[in-house]
Amino acid sequence: MNLPRNEDYSKPEYWEKRYISEEEYEWLGGFQCYKSILQKYLSKHQQSDSILQLGCGNSSFSTDLRNEGWENITNIDISLTGLQKLRRRERDSNYVLMDMSIMSFKDKAFDIVVEKCTLDSLLVTAESPWDLDSKQHKLVGRVLKEIKRILNPGGTFISITFSQPHFRVPLLLAEGLGWSVQVEKIEG
Ligand SMILES: C[S@@+](CC[C@H](N)C(=O)[O-])C[C@H]1O[C@@H](n2cnc3c(N)ncnc32)[C@H](O)[C@@H]1O
Repeated sequence: MNLPRNEDYSKPEYWEKRYISEEEYEWLGGFQCYKSILQKYLSKHQQSDSILQLGCGNSSFSTDLRNEGWENITNIDISLTGLQKLRRRERDSNYVLMDMSIMSFKDKAFDIVVEKCTLDSLLVTAESPWDLDSKQHKLVGRVLKEIKRILNPGGTFISITFSQPHFRVPLLLAEGLGWSVQVEKIEG
């Protein structure tokens, strides 16, 4: 069996090929691992509020949110195969082929944006997690600006990551974003 190399995770063609044979996989564990923390941050919203998930892959995250009563969920990914599989599995959410660094959504289109391990996949080839000027960190910076643009003021961005807070928080506190950041640790 050929194990993926770290850099594979940053390549769209890796995900496309992977999803042809793989039906479902949950990076960093499934919904139950995060449910209580998610509830803490989602409880200030109405269940009709609009949610965007970035890089849904073939995860059940959207279905799980829907089962908790959230009705208005859009998911994007760059893998058509992953999206087609999710569309067949769960017809009630929107699954859209879109690159999160250049989204075609209108400004302030969403109340909540969530990503699980998707920004992580952009950073796997960065030589140093400390070098915020690397091309990988700059790409994440562009994605964060896009999130800021499409998020309603007063909205919530939830980023579920394996990254240590001292690497991730500086990116979220970049000039121009104007976010207040809260960190929660999930016991593994
Ligand atoms: C590590 S997987 C995480 C999948 C899922 N969120 C989960 O938790 O199981 C990363 C996903 O991000 C997607 N992705 C990578 N770059 C992207 C981009 N620029 N725009 C949208 N999705 C992207 C990949 O296709 C892949 O499905």
